[in-house]
Amino acid sequence: MIALKKQLGEILEKAVAASFEGAAITADELCEMLEYPPDSSMGDIAFPCFKLSRTLRCAPPIIAQKLAAAEFDSDVVTASAAGPYLNFKISEKYLTEKVLASVLSNGEKYGSFDFGEGKTVVLDYSSPNTSKPFHIGHLGTTVIGHCLKLLHEFAGYKCIGINHLGDWGTQNGKQIVAFKRWGNKEEVEEKGCDGLVELYVKFHEEAEKDPSLNDEARAEFKKMEMHDPENIALWKWFLDISLKEYKVTYDQLGITFDHYMGESFFSDKMDAQIQIMRDKDLLKLDDGASIVDLSEYNMPPCLILKRDGASLYPSRDISAAVYRKNNFDFSKCIYVTSAGQSLHFAQWFKVMELMGYDWVDQLVHVPYGTVSIGGEKLATRTGNVVLLKHLFAQAIEKVSAVINEKNPDLANKEEVSEAVGVGAVVFHYLFNTRIKDISFVLEDALSFEGSTGPYVQYTYARTCSILAKAGKIDASALKITAEDESEIIKVLARFPERVLAAIEDYEPSYIARYAIELATAFNRFYHNCPILSAEDETVKNTRLAITEAAGTVLKTALRLICMRAPEKI
Ligand code: ARG
Repeated sequence: MIALKKQLGEILEKAVAASFEGAAITADELCEMLEYPPDSSMGDIAFPCFKLSRTLRCAPPIIAQKLAAAEFDSDVVTASAAGPYLNFKISEKYLTEKVLASVLSNGEKYGSFDFGEGKTVVLDYSSPNTSKPFHIGHLGTTVIGHCLKLLHEFAGYKCIGINHLGDWGTQNGKQIVAFKRWGNKEEVEEKGCDGLVELYVKFHEEAEKDPSLNDEARAEFKKMEMHDPENIALWKWFLDISLKEYKVTYDQLGITFDHYMGESFFSDKMDAQIQIMRDKDLLKLDDGASIVDLSEYNMPPCLILKRDGASLYPSRDISAAVYRKNNFDFSKCIYVTSAGQSLHFAQWFKVMELMGYDWVDQLVHVPYGTVSIGGEKLATRTGNVVLLKHLFAQAIEKVSAVINEKNPDLANKEEVSEAVGVGAVVFHYLFNTRIKDISFVLEDALSFEGSTGPYVQYTYARTCSILAKAGKIDASALKITAEDESEIIKVLARFPERVLAAIEDYEPSYIARYAIELATAFNRFYHNCPILSAEDETVKNTRLAITEAAGTVLKTALRLICMRAPEKI
């Protein structure tokens, strides 16, 4: 509808100028005022005249009357005034020849843009702290981040995904203390990440009783910073174990990163940045540590160097940003983390501004809300966590049981169960407005009905099964004969602007919600309009064309939110 709205904006501009002397309202402004009425009996697109009534000093119903007489292209819309609104009904010709034809000819490119061409976007997401378990709290950054990458690629940007692992800090010292005291090589080798988590939990239990363990952990980390060979070897070994495990989850999600470039990479690359801070007189000593005072901006100070001169989380972020700017020349660098880190980002963005980097406004923090399971907060230290791998395994198992019961002869049952199980979790999460806290209920996520991933995937599979039975579609003459046909084509027409809005607002939920809207429209159409059994050839072809277009866009929407689209379920 983007092109259509633009066209209406241009005609309205001329009509306003012709009917109201001296009025100069731009086509863009008028286009912005167009809206979708909640009920299509009121038109497909509406132009409310309230805003104009002030500028034009004229009552809204009179404006609507005057504008309705303008020369709108009858092949595209018919306009009629209804009280203070000017309502547009989109013509059937436009729906078939423009919208449906465009989905069919563009295929999986339908809804894409090229405004990102020639520009690079860096996305920093997932970025777990190694040594801690990969739990459900990481679902947000991982899938929102990847979805934003896919959306930006869909707009033509070159995208670079970076996993900024939290692989350098006192927590790694804690792991070393725990291993040296209570661990053994065989056990860790056998248990992998679970073994490391056990040690991490044990450390915190013991440190409760004996706080001196925390000093010991700091000392072990200090040794890592001094390149102590034993500690570095242990650290590398732990890192490998963690990465191997993350990879299993990333594979299930279909996620790959262009770089694993974590905090350790930047731990010794601060000098140039520190020098700039010194030159600009930004650093202050505070109890031995170096800080940047941000009280003027109503923020607590940003910690740059520890008392022993070691770098900290914010300082590593500053050097990572400069490194990325120099090496990738991004036009945007997006960070996806929980909202709990918003202050951290606001602080170091400010420090970079004070350092004189004029591209700070290209750094974007995209925060999201917390995840709980059945309302319970998660905490790594106490071991009260739900690991992502366990959640996925549970979901896959449940889906697999349903498939075994309902469709026991399905080929690739394992693959499909994984696609639907993992997809259900992802969808349930992404359906939520990003910033809202979510309490996760697996049973709700797995339902084949309602606003769920399985419902959308199942609808897609339904389009595939119809098309498989249909043979070749003759889309040369298409004709709309039922209300449900035009309704679904109108939903298809809205896809590109949803993509655009999702990119502008960094909001994957728009795509998830759109997928539900389209799946619902398709199922209504499917129930009310016979497709394969339609007697008239043109009617049958039109319905098959709609089925193909709906399938194509459902598949694209699923792909953009990191979900697979099995052809049979
Ligand atoms: N490792 C951090 C954590 O788990 C997230 C890192 C986000 N990225 C960044 N550049 N600070 O909380």
